[in-house]
Amino acid sequence: MGYCDKVFNKVEAHELLREFGSPLYVYDEATLRQRCREMKKLVSYPQFRVNYSAKANTNPQLLKIVREEGLDVDAMSPGEMYLEELAGFPPERIMFIGNNVAQGEFEYAVRRGIYISVDSLSQLKTLGAVNRGGEVCLRVNPEVGAGHHEKVVTGGKKAKFGIAIEDIPQACTIADSFGMTVTGLNQHIGSLFLDGGDYLAAMELLLTLAEEMPAIHTLDFGGGFGIPYRHGVEPRLDLKAMGAAMDERLNAWSAQNRAITVRIEPGRYIAAECSNLLGTVTAIKNNYGNTFVGCDIGFNTLIRPAMYDSYHEIDIAPHTPRAYAEYDGPAWLVGPICESGDILAHDRPLPRCEEGDAVIIHDAGAYGYSMASPYNSRPLPAEVLIQADGSVRLIRRRQSLEELWQI
Ligand code: LLP
Repeated sequence: MGYCDKVFNKVEAHELLREFGSPLYVYDEATLRQRCREMKKLVSYPQFRVNYSAKANTNPQLLKIVREEGLDVDAMSPGEMYLEELAGFPPERIMFIGNNVAQGEFEYAVRRGIYISVDSLSQLKTLGAVNRGGEVCLRVNPEVGAGHHEKVVTGGKKAKFGIAIEDIPQACTIADSFGMTVTGLNQHIGSLFLDGGDYLAAMELLLTLAEEMPAIHTLDFGGGFGIPYRHGVEPRLDLKAMGAAMDERLNAWSAQNRAITVRIEPGRYIAAECSNLLGTVTAIKNNYGNTFVGCDIGFNTLIRPAMYDSYHEIDIAPHTPRAYAEYDGPAWLVGPICESGDILAHDRPLPRCEEGDAVIIHDAGAYGYSMASPYNSRPLPAEVLIQADGSVRLIRRRQSLEELWQI
């Protein structure tokens, strides 16, 4: 946290704001490609595929880069499948992971030949009616979960996801009654781990189940790979150690059983660190001893701090050169939304700000724009990409006021 003029050490923050307006999501192509490559080489097990979990960020240009890097994708909705196909992913590189979806959504995927995972017996019947004779993947709830906040724990007794282990035989019977073959098992225990232990332990369940299910050709262990939002404090995930442990287990399993395709579904790891969100300081006040730095980034633009109390590193780019100084005591960085929960940072030191300074919020690429909304009738922000050659390209224009009037 400090004063910093450039985004990704490449482009002046104020230059970007002058040209493209504020607030603005800025992406760095080199970082995105780098993260894709790290995930692709996580293991050397030959039948290994990385499904980018596109819910983290579905900007079409970013999806194209991910496709160029050779990753596949998952989808949670027809909207995501639609965008992914437009970005050039053929149906066989897309996997639809449904949760409480309508039959029409399954039909959409079946028509396109997209592989589908269902996560309840009820949904299995809904799919069966429109996918007779087809293949299906079952999402298992492994009875344990993990994650950075209770709202993102997706396994365990209180999570709405997945089929309970004891119901898997019944699921196979239901699939059979529709002539469907269960050819895959998937799980996702939760989002954001920085120690691979729980993930490796959870892998065992799918491997054990697949031993007794010879038609299974795909195991998808899910996402959740974390990034260190607290720079210099949290450790980076040790991908080397994790990959080595996965390799050892997968090679042993396939030697004892059969070759099988293994998938993982990272969203955050791919997309978070390639973006800084820029905004502008609009007002500063001290009320009853608390300093409030107001800016134009509200939870309409980045909801993570308000929704999960998430921490993002924040730098300030001064609008005129000046020596570094901090507020005495903790200050609050807050947005323009008419709710007191509209807080980007609290109870931490903040650099002294002036109106017109730029705010730089780090690691905003995952669940940033994709969770943004036009709440308070504030148009969605623009997105730009710092391309590999250093040039900056607009990859989504700012929503206009006129576009808010849509019927
Ligand atoms: N696969 C499934 C089935 C998922 O539900 C998710 C995320 C992922 C993969 C990717 O998880 P990741 O690798 O990104 O952790 N909005 C929250 C995170 C919600 C995650 C929802 N599911 C946040 O901003 O922290």
